[in-house]
Amino acid sequence: MIKLQNVCKSYYLGETEVKAVDNINLEIKAKEYIGILGSSGSGKSTLMYLIGLLEHPTCGSILFDGKDVSKLSDEALSKIRNQNVGFVFQSFNLISKYTVLENILLPTLYAKEKLEFDPDKRAEELLTKFGIYDRRHFYPNKISGGQQQRVAIARALMMNPKIILADEPTGNLDTKTGDEILDIMESLNKSFGVTVVLVTHEKDVANRTKRQIYIKDGVVVNRY
Ligand SMILES: Nc1ncnc2c1ncn2[C@@H]1O[C@H](COP(=O)(O)OP(=O)(O)OP(=O)(O)O)[C@@H](O)[C@H]1O
Ligand SMILES: [Mg+2]
Repeated sequence: MIKLQNVCKSYYLGETEVKAVDNINLEIKAKEYIGILGSSGSGKSTLMYLIGLLEHPTCGSILFDGKDVSKLSDEALSKIRNQNVGFVFQSFNLISKYTVLENILLPTLYAKEKLEFDPDKRAEELLTKFGIYDRRHFYPNKISGGQQQRVAIARALMMNPKIILADEPTGNLDTKTGDEILDIMESLNKSFGVTVVLVTHEKDVANRTKRQIYIKDGVVVNRY
């Protein structure tokens, strides 16, 4: 589904080049559940942004469903993202001035084409599925961290994406709440066939995925 070929991403701080991702080859097949494991600064988030078409690579190519998307315009990329990719972040990234329901509906407002589903109905289904229906008119700061992350997952699922990318989704949660979020991730993959990529620096978290990729200094290595 997504293939990275000799992909790199460098940032420049003045004259200094930081190779955040350095010549990575990686194939993610449909319905996989992958953990990307590495220490802080190893390049996990950068790699995830490349996989999720949020960043242009500085070298190499990214194939999405067989098509090279690495040189597409930002607008073309955002359309592919909107229809195919859902993101979940450590700090939930909900919009504080919008209610739970409004946050979940947000991706449908950015959709460029006519929706094939009723957004209100789908939002209601997702709210119910994740046990937050009774919180739909609350603002994010009035619900718990675990509930906020479930809102973020519901928002990520709104457009029925093929792939969910989660960057340290349990990082701001206690162990029990984090486990519940990992249960949800697993069920998305197992029961709904969504491809899931989970970024973490914790081995225990990565161990819950089906395949692990270790990254160190922007390079894929054999072990953590
Ligand atoms: N926008 C940026 N500008 C400059 N350097 C950056 C930028 N983003 C990341 N980097 C650098 O690239 C390297 C990889 O960063 P990245 O955020 O991908 O690591 P990470 O594995 O996600 O770390 P963490 O576990 O702390 O989130 C680091 O050295 C970082 O300082
Ligand atoms: Mg990171």
